[in-house]
Amino acid sequence: MILEAVNLTKKYRGLTAVNSYTLRIEPGIIHGLIGPNGAGKTTVFNMLTSLVQPTEGKVLFLGEDITRKRPDQIAGLGLARTFQNIRLFKELSVLENIMIAAQIHKKYGLFSTLLCLPSFKQEEKEIVHKAEQLLETVGLIALKDHKARSLSYGNQRKLEIARALALSPKLLLLDEPAAGMNPNESIELMTMIKNIRDQYDLSILLIEHDIPFVMKLCEHIQVLNYGQLIAEGNPEEIRSNPEVIRAYLGRAAEHA
Ligand SMILES: Nc1ncnc2c1ncn2[C@@H]1O[C@H](COP(=O)(O)OP(=O)(O)OP(=O)(O)O)[C@@H](O)[C@H]1O
Ligand SMILES: [Mg+2]
Repeated sequence: MILEAVNLTKKYRGLTAVNSYTLRIEPGIIHGLIGPNGAGKTTVFNMLTSLVQPTEGKVLFLGEDITRKRPDQIAGLGLARTFQNIRLFKELSVLENIMIAAQIHKKYGLFSTLLCLPSFKQEEKEIVHKAEQLLETVGLIALKDHKARSLSYGNQRKLEIARALALSPKLLLLDEPAAGMNPNESIELMTMIKNIRDQYDLSILLIEHDIPFVMKLCEHIQVLNYGQLIAEGNPEEIRSNPEVIRAYLGRAAEHA
């Protein structure tokens, strides 16, 4: 098991945002988490990555209890994520955004960096090379010297994915990767996510409101409603589940 969440609960004053949520992710799986606005999906991601401390429950990553670890420690262990509200260094270039993340794993410290020792020079070359490879993967290499701010919304989302990949993760969490993309862009993104899973040999957990996207891409899907897990299964099981249709899919279809 890559990741296991056991009875994760988050309470805010009068509100239970997530109630006794359980998750098991096997290696190589693309796992979807869906549900209406405010269902608790982002709160689940925040608990898995320690941005929010769970009120109850625990998270095991590669068998290790990471519930009380810091977000940077968790990223260092190989659990990387993107954000629903894009978080990039807007004034830095596309390439620099990736290089900063890639440096988390660098061997040489500030000392050799300041003195520009050969070890540092070699390492910097490797980091640039890795960053460029990642930009190839997400189709942004031609824009590497542009400021992140100047990218389209869809390309900023791709850049966030590349930045997460720079941490060499075993598990990648994507919070609404297709949000704001046009239909062609989301089809392209779907192919890209599959390639990433295969090429980098990792598991993916994604939140998404685009139901056709989730149904085509994910092998296993969970549905949250008012903080409660109401269904879990393969796309066919989810599509035909009466409670899911009543709580979410019916409504999503009305809005489509
Ligand atoms: N810091 C907080 N303080 C109080 N309530 C919060 C906090 N963060 C989230 N909530 C509440 O918890 C519930 C779940 O929010 P969350 O952002 O996890 O939902 P979501 O499923 O990601 O929704 P969306 O699809 O709109 O992104 C909501 O009712 C939200 O208002
Ligand atoms: Mg959310």
